Amino acid sequence: MVTLLENPLRVGLQQERIPEPLIMVIFGASGDLAQRKLVPAIYQLKRERRLPAEMTIVGVARRPWSHDYFREQMREGIDQFSDGVGSEDAWQDFAQGLFYCSGDIDDPDSYLKLKEFLGELDGKRGTRGNRVFYLAVSPKFFGEAIRQLGTANMLTDPQKSRLVIEKPFGRDLGSAQSLNQVVRQVCKEEQVYRIDHYLGKETVQNLLVFRFANAIFEPLWNRQFVDHVQITVGETVGVEDRAGYYESSGALRDMVQNHLMQLFSLTAMEAPNSLDADSIRTEKVKVIQATHLADEHNLEFSAIRGQYTAGWMKGKQVAGYREEPGVDPNSTTPTYVAMKLVVDNWRWQGVPFYLRTGKRLPKKVTEIAIQFREVPFLIFQSATQQANPNVLVLRIQPNEGISLRFDAKMPGPSLRSRSVDMDFQYGSTFGVSNADAYNRLLLDCMMGDQTLFTRADEVEAAWRVVTPALTVWESPTDPTSIPTYEAGTWEPAEAELLLNRDGHRWRRP
Ligand code: BG6
Repeated sequence: MVTLLENPLRVGLQQERIPEPLIMVIFGASGDLAQRKLVPAIYQLKRERRLPAEMTIVGVARRPWSHDYFREQMREGIDQFSDGVGSEDAWQDFAQGLFYCSGDIDDPDSYLKLKEFLGELDGKRGTRGNRVFYLAVSPKFFGEAIRQLGTANMLTDPQKSRLVIEKPFGRDLGSAQSLNQVVRQVCKEEQVYRIDHYLGKETVQNLLVFRFANAIFEPLWNRQFVDHVQITVGETVGVEDRAGYYESSGALRDMVQNHLMQLFSLTAMEAPNSLDADSIRTEKVKVIQATHLADEHNLEFSAIRGQYTAGWMKGKQVAGYREEPGVDPNSTTPTYVAMKLVVDNWRWQGVPFYLRTGKRLPKKVTEIAIQFREVPFLIFQSATQQANPNVLVLRIQPNEGISLRFDAKMPGPSLRSRSVDMDFQYGSTFGVSNADAYNRLLLDCMMGDQTLFTRADEVEAAWRVVTPALTVWESPTDPTSIPTYEAGTWEPAEAELLLNRDGHRWRRP
């Protein structure tokens, strides 16, 4: 019998997943993302022995923190937002690799100081000049930080330096193109990791496995058998304390252009030639490029926005969007978007893809529902007195899994049918809970694997799809004309109509 250690393939894979010693430089280290997500994820990876002993983090931000104060802050983050530091030894070992270097994003001297400090750390920690620069700063500083890193020659060696850019990448097509231009001036695309944390979710990655490791679905995955697709990302939270960011972003920029477009492209793309990053990303780009709003000139037939008004969530009364702290009482920012997309290619011609997302919906749920065509002629009596088309639901979160809805005979003497579900549940099947998306993405980036990151042309193609809606919604609008939905309900009436017109209804997941 071959044991795990003797099995060269397993050993090989395990070794493969440990990155080279490196310094992760986090710009915006005093902010939420570093404390809530990034450092806790790196800590967990370290505890799982997926990182080298030399792993080093340097936090960069304006505040004049000491190394020790930075360590305390990060420890609090790990305690508060993940499983806690666990053993004191593990924490001490990790904390030895945590450093802080104060600096201003637009001050060239700060970069020179940082560069020198990183050089010193290479000597002390054995990090061999390998760097990952993570921009966890406000998007308005992305361009400046990238320019300055370029001027300080910190991105010159593609083998040793990488750049991670948080979302949103640009505010629209034009600004995304300009940012890509800045990136191109200072480094190569192979060094760039544009983050969309949805790609780090296990169940999103499983879409690829589901589609391309199983032979039985592929023959059905096209216009001949699929009637339409519904992609839902519902959230129960409101704008929380993020009005400053959200007011200028809204659901279209915050969710649709990135997370929903990723779910869409993985569902609709053709099979890649191989699993390498560019084969997969090329297929995603191709399908996004073939996609557009069903009617770019009459948005009521293809893109609906909405804003939540006061309502009830889990027995508690909640404020409407315009009453939230920091929100303009006449705000026209959408907290809900529904879209009908069409894809001009052989596989999907005539199959609408309906996408929707919103805050303050009744349920936190992300799912992709493939609704198949009805049987051509119904010979059975169904319990609902109508044909029940088969639906394949990929549940991204929560309750991760896949279910297939089909009709079965109801017990009893008469031949009547009813819909039933065949269900696969991630949690109970694999017996582990899914790791946070950032764990996977950070590890991939340290390993130099770009598969789960958005390429320059992909981000631009996604902006192109939403541009017609963005243009209209950005123009001066009478605030009373924005469709509304009560907090705790699924959508504005206008969004319901978008589907009803096609003879469909939104699912109630
Ligand atoms: C973020 C958005 O990218 O994704 C948030 O900025 C949103 O507004 C969040 O709440 C949703 O992510 P998840 O993983 O909770 O579905």
